Amino acid sequence: MDRTFLMVKPDGVQRGLIGEVIARFEAKGLKMVAGKFEMLPEERVMEHYAEHAAKPFFPGLKSYIMSGPCFLMVFEGKDVVAVTRKMIGATNPAEAEPGTIRGDFAMEIGMNVIHGSDSYETAEREIGIHFRPEEIISYERADEKYLY
Ligand code: TYD
Ligand code: MG
Repeated sequence: MDRTFLMVKPDGVQRGLIGEVIARFEAKGLKMVAGKFEMLPEERVMEHYAEHAAKPFFPGLKSYIMSGPCFLMVFEGKDVVAVTRKMIGATNPAEAEPGTIRGDFAMEIGMNVIHGSDSYETAEREIGIHFRPEEIISYERADEKYLY
C-alpha cells in the first residue's frame, strides 16, 4: 500500500491540533503505521528541507521548525500522497480552500501547521530520514474491508 510522511509542525503542536489532524486522516480511511513526538535535530532539518536550503525563507523556516516539538507520522492508503496533499491544502494558508487543514487552521505561510510529502519519491526519502524500518508497523485495521 502507498505510504507518505506527515508531520504536525511546532505551531500545530502548540495550538493543540495534533488530535484534529490525526482525526481527519483516520476518518478519511487512511491508516497510521508510525508516529512519534520529537524535537527535530538540526541535521535532519537540513536533510528534510535540502531543496529549500538556498531560499530566502529558509533561515526562518529552519528556526520555526526547530522551535518546539513536532509530531511525525507515516500514513498508508490508496493514493495517499495525492489524498493527503489535497486534505492539507495550499502552501499559503491564505490561499488554502476552506475544508483543508491549512485553510481551516492557519493564517501565515511561515506557520502552516502541517507538512506532507509531495510525491512518492519524496515520501520514501522523508520516511527514510525520520523513521527506522522497525518503527513502521504493519497491521490490519478493522474497517479496511469497508474502505476498499
Ligand atoms: P514547500 O515545499 O514549497 O511547501 P509545502 O509545505 O506545501 O510542500 O515549502 C516548505 C515550507 O516552507 C512551507 O510549508 C512553508 C515554508 N515556506 C515559506 O515560509 N515561505 C515560502 O515562500 C515558501 C514557498 C515556503
Ligand atoms: Mg514541500
